[in-house]
Amino acid sequence: MNIRTSTSRDVESIVALFTASVHLLAARNYTPEQLTAWAPKSPDLEQWSTKLSTLETLVAEFDGTMVGFITYTDNGHIVFLYTSPTFSRKGVASQLYEITSRVLLANGVCSLSTEASIEARPFFESKGFNVVEEQVVERNGMLLKRFAMAGVLASVEA
Ligand SMILES: CC(C)(COP(=O)(O)OP(=O)(O)OC[C@H]1O[C@@H](n2cnc3c(N)ncnc32)[C@H](O)[C@@H]1OP(=O)(O)O)[C@@H](O)C(=O)NCCC(=O)NCCS
Repeated sequence: MNIRTSTSRDVESIVALFTASVHLLAARNYTPEQLTAWAPKSPDLEQWSTKLSTLETLVAEFDGTMVGFITYTDNGHIVFLYTSPTFSRKGVASQLYEITSRVLLANGVCSLSTEASIEARPFFESKGFNVVEEQVVERNGMLLKRFAMAGVLASVEA
């Protein structure tokens, strides 16, 4: 697997992966209506481009196909972490997370935070994160449960 920094040419693939990941991997924890509100079937690529241009994004590729991506801020907030449904539970998110952690730690960032879906909570717990609070967020008129979580990088890496 190859992991690299994303470019503006990756936006379409990132959004396609995001949409497939939400609709297939998160389906056991959210209703179809919630999934569509979270990941609309006709996503706004321009809005995505604008959002991604303000963040750091790494993409994972296998045989030239994108299999996952992680997006984070310089101060340690993980905004997006998504794996392709066909590559689930093969360590894709772990590798993306590990490289992100190393980069942040090298830049002096020791505290990480994220808002994890019900689906992603066990992943972050496996990396030493704790739930700070349960939240309900509104997306396109639907309410979705998620968890604000925090991790300490030094102890995660130990
Ligand atoms: C959450 C997500 C990113 C995990 O990606 P992944 O590449 O499958 O994760 P990994 O293979 O690196 O998993 C590492 C460990 O995390 C834990 N884990 C990951 N997914 C899990 C799940 N669904 N249930 C329980 N534990 C899980 C396990 O401990 C796993 O290790 P194991 O497979 O050896 O048991 C992926 O399931 C996903 O994209 N989900 C849908 C979208 C989503 O909710 N994204 C996050 C938004 S905040």
